[in-house]
Parts: sequence; C-alpha cells; structure tokens
Amino acid sequence: MTLRRIVEILRTGQPDDAVTIRGWVRTKRELKDFTFVDVNDGSSLTGLQVVLNKDLPSYADIIAQINTGAAVEVSGQLVASLGKGQRIEMQGQTITVHGGADPETYPLQKKRHSFEFLRTIGHLRSRTNTLGAVFRVRNACANAIHQFFQERGFMWVHTPLITASDCEGAGELFAVTNLDLQNVPKTKSGDVDYGQDFFGRPAYLTVSGQLEAEIMAMAFSNVYTFGPTFRAENSNTSRHLAEFWMVEPEMAFCNLDGNMDLAEQFLKYLFQRVLDQCLEDMEFFNQRISDTVLSNADAIINSQFERITYTEAIALLEKSDRTFEYPVSWGLDLQSEHERYLAEELFKRPVIVTDYPVEIKAFYMRLSDDGKTVRAMDVLAPGIGEIIGGSQREERLDILEQRIQAQGMPLEDLWWYRDLRRYGTVEHAGFGLGFERLVQFMTGMANIRDVIPFPRSPLNAEF
Ligand code: 4AD
Ligand code: MG
Repeated sequence: MTLRRIVEILRTGQPDDAVTIRGWVRTKRELKDFTFVDVNDGSSLTGLQVVLNKDLPSYADIIAQINTGAAVEVSGQLVASLGKGQRIEMQGQTITVHGGADPETYPLQKKRHSFEFLRTIGHLRSRTNTLGAVFRVRNACANAIHQFFQERGFMWVHTPLITASDCEGAGELFAVTNLDLQNVPKTKSGDVDYGQDFFGRPAYLTVSGQLEAEIMAMAFSNVYTFGPTFRAENSNTSRHLAEFWMVEPEMAFCNLDGNMDLAEQFLKYLFQRVLDQCLEDMEFFNQRISDTVLSNADAIINSQFERITYTEAIALLEKSDRTFEYPVSWGLDLQSEHERYLAEELFKRPVIVTDYPVEIKAFYMRLSDDGKTVRAMDVLAPGIGEIIGGSQREERLDILEQRIQAQGMPLEDLWWYRDLRRYGTVEHAGFGLGFERLVQFMTGMANIRDVIPFPRSPLNAEF
C-alpha cells in the first residue's frame, strides 16, 4: 500500500492500485450492505469516495466512529466508480480512526454555513469547501508571485516588521513597546520616556517595506518584498485588514511607464498561473461564489488595462450621471465608490490611474514639472477598487527634502533615506499589491476576512 495524496489519486489513480489515504471524513452515507465515506485531505476540493462493505471486521463499530470530522487512515484497492461524479473510488480494506468527532457537538455538519458563522470557528473553517479552495488558491498565488519575480531576476529581500519610520505618513501605526503600561516612565516634561523602551526610541509595526526595499534596489537593481504589513486604521470594511500581506517590487533605472507595465504583466501572470493550477477551485468559485470569476480572469489575461490620469478620471466622474456619496472635484482623493464606478461600470476592466494631486499622496512620490501632481499610479479592479498602489520615487534630494518638510515630518529621522539621493541616486519606481485584495479579486469572495486564515481587524484577534 502506498500512501498517496487524494488529488493525485483523482488525477492518475488506476483500478487495482493499492493505496493508503489519510484525511478527515466529510460525509458518511450508510446503505444496507455498505457505507460510502467521503474523505478529504485538503489536497483538492473533491474528496475520495471510500466504500466500506458490511463484511469488514468490526464493521458496525467502525461505522459508528466514522462521523463527519473524524481523522481516518484507510487502505484499499482503487476501483472504477459506477456512481456519477467520480472516475475512481476506493474499496476500503483496513480503517484506522485516529480521532473521532462527536456529531452532537462538531459544528461543521453537512449544510451550508454562513461566512459570518464560520469566522466564529476560525480553527475549523479551513475544513469547508469554500475556505479550503480559498487557501489553495492563496498558496498557488503566493508561489506564482515568487516565480514571476525569480524568473525575471528580481531578488527577494527581507524588510523588517519592526521599524521606526512611517512610510505612508498616515499615522496608522501600531506601537511596539515593552514598557510597563501600568507604570509608563515619563521624562521631566511629562512625555513618555522612550529612552527606557526596548529600542530606546518609539518603534512600530511596519505599514510597508518600501523604504527598505528602495535601499536594496540601490544595490541589487530589481528587488521585491513579500510579507506581512500592519495598519491601525479603524476601518471595519470588507476590504481592510489590520494585518495583511503586501508584495512590493522596487526597480532602479525605471520610471512610471516601466512600473505600470510590470504591474500589468504581473497580474496577468498570476491569473494564468492560478487558473492552470487551481482550475477546479476556480470553477467552484464561479459556480458558488460569483459567476463572473472565470470571465473576469479571462478578461485580465486577455485585455489591455485602461490607463488614464487622475485629471481624466475626475472629468469622467463629473460627466457621469451617477450621484456619489462623496461629491467629485479635482483634489479629492478617489473613494471606493469612484474607483469601482471607473473599473466596474465605465471600463469593465482594470484601470490604472496616474498622476494624482501632490497633496493627497505620500512624500516619496516624484513631483511632476507642473508642480501639482506626482507620478503615482493606482490599479483599480472591478469589484474591489484599489488593489495596487505605487509610484515613481522622488530621486532629487532637494525636492524630496521639501516634500518631507511640507508633510511636517522630521528630516533627521530619514537621514539614511536622504543619503540614497546623495550617493548614486537614479530614477526608480515600485508598487505595493495587497495580497488579500488580489485573492478576493480572483475568487470573488465578498469579505477580505475570508481570504486570510486568521484575520485581524478592529476588536478581533481570536485564533
Ligand atoms: O497604496 P498603499 O498604501 O501603498 C503603499 O504602502 C506603498 N508603500 C507601496 C509601494 O509603492 N511599495 O498600499 C498598497 C496596497 C493597496 O493598494 C491595497 O491593495 C493594500 O496594499 N492595502 C490593504 N489591504 C488590506 N487591508 C488594508 N488595510 C490595506 N491597506 C492597503
Ligand atoms: Mg494606496
């Protein structure tokens, strides 16, 4: 008997193969002379159907233990299946029940549960069809991200999670401290005495690895980060998490056009890879979650993204006969409703909006000659809104320093960032892709909390 993963058996298993599988029981159907057991080991959406005949030793005893949720190991012969819905099934010969699951209390009985309910059992929900499919897609997508960059000679760089700088300047930082919060040391003037804190200064969880990625790009040309980032924004929406994963490429000798091209190629590549690897899961999403999942993937792969400037976007929004909650005028930051109108209704495909007003964007974005806009780009996706934010960076020291000061940030803290403009500065650009927003976009899942195994959001850090 060879131990095999169920996905592999379903793909290549042949009648008479003697195999062992290990997994969890999804359903059991008892008939007069035999019992059907659907076993799933997480390797695919579809499980393996195991048939147990009533002449097996201790049949009644075993059947009584094989309830939904039980961990089992089954050995037997593969046989061609007569039932519809599967090519092959297993005639079970020996069964070990490693751990049972009491049907009176196990919460995942065979019925549809709401995603809200499943969030309350975060330790068990990965055993459901939908969450299982989401996390397989998530895995395939993460792998494809590394492949995309590695094939193109980008170096994966590891940027810190604990940092002293606020990259986005939005003040959405979680503090990291080991001061005794019951007895915070104070200076003579009554401020917190960070000199006594672990790092001897205020420190935070990072909101973005970009500033450190820029350091590495100035040595390795093309780099990327892929890791967790943290934002203490108190937004209880279906698109925000307090802890999310971000992918951030950074390229030296590159301007905004190169940046847009990379972002577009990147998304096309990821969709193609995930379709190749997880077709069954993607078909499931199309059938059960949103019937535009496959057509959307096709459109991403095969159509060119629209590219417009912020100024053009504002004109289009002003021309539309829609009334928006946030009235549109030049200078306003685009809200989710505007982004979705552009991507979903007007263009019906991803839109890259560039050249935003300097006032609404971060200090590091390159100022254009008009003095009013910066070389920013946001990629807006139908159904989601912004999934990528990026820019060409300000490589000129004097202008960068003016921007830092204009935002009221202390110049000294960014001495090392300014040094990059002093020694070997060159035009460079990069972007950040919100990994969970991408997985949402791919799968059609409505809530971002259902595309990460253990979501962190306001008042929620269980599991
Ligand atoms: O647009 P953002 O804030 O850009 C940056 O952080 C840049 N430093 C990136 C760069 O140029 N290297 O964030 C990038 C992306 C957003 O487009 C969005 O997809 C995602 O990160 N994002 C979030 N995803 C989930 N929850 C949140 N609270 C998010 N905030 C941003
Ligand atoms: Mg942004």
